[in-house]
Amino acid sequence: MTGTELVLWVIVPYVCIAVFVGGHVWRYRYDKFGWTTRSSQLYERRLLRLASPLFHFGILAALGGHVMGLLVPERWTEAAGLGDTAYHAMSLTLGTIAGFGTVVGLSLLIYRRRTVGPVFSATTKNDKFMYVFLAATILLGLLTTVLTNATGHPHDYRQTVSPYFRSIFYFQPKPELMTAAPLGFKLHVETAWLLFGIWPFTRLVHVFSAPLGYLTRPYIVYRSREHTAGSPRGVGGGSAPRLRLGWGRP
Ligand code: HEM
Repeated sequence: MTGTELVLWVIVPYVCIAVFVGGHVWRYRYDKFGWTTRSSQLYERRLLRLASPLFHFGILAALGGHVMGLLVPERWTEAAGLGDTAYHAMSLTLGTIAGFGTVVGLSLLIYRRRTVGPVFSATTKNDKFMYVFLAATILLGLLTTVLTNATGHPHDYRQTVSPYFRSIFYFQPKPELMTAAPLGFKLHVETAWLLFGIWPFTRLVHVFSAPLGYLTRPYIVYRSREHTAGSPRGVGGGSAPRLRLGWGRP
């Protein structure tokens, strides 16, 4: 194992995983009320209504693909009757759809942040920093899927990246497996580790409180008049929902 392999595929992953776990515990203990998506829905809804589900459903589907592709060994799917060719056809089709949905959704979200004044003003340096890592990881993931398949010689990442990923969690790291993977996979996996390293200090923490935990621990409650039992109707008693701002339980 060379020094570079050791740093890229063993030290960086373990440091990032340790920071990911420790950082979340720290953030929860010391910044409970900053644990939020900092929703910008109040500023703009039209674009958000399209971009947010596209991004979130896309990323959830990609996550499902990662669980299947990284955690389930190839021999298991083969034993279940799913051959290599069929597996790759499935992962290419579903992975590309999920990946494109995620990229289009993310592009719209970034466009909205840049062009809608109040949303832009609410965007911090921390958000921009996080978006760079998030976008790089997603774009590189999609590129590896599309490009390696478009060349007609798809790389069987279940022989390299997947056993490497599992070896990290068995505490018997096999960095040589990553050395054998094409460059696109290397870049995608390295940016993913770094993304995990910055995760606890960004808005991405909301992943662990959505949707149920987030709903039961409101700090500020935004509620529609329509749905507030016993609330008096405003002048005109209109049908359009209005927003009210109130203080919830801390
Ligand atoms: C260390 C962790 C990760 C590893 C080892 C990994 C590995 C991979 C591999 C092997 C592929 C190719 C799949 C295929 O061609 O079917 C891929 C694709 C992809 N990855 Fe990752 N990944 C990791 C983390 C992430 C993260 C954190 C994100 C998003 C934030 C992400 C987003 C994507 C996307 C969008 C694709 C395109 C295909 C799809 O939609 O599944 N990956 N990844």
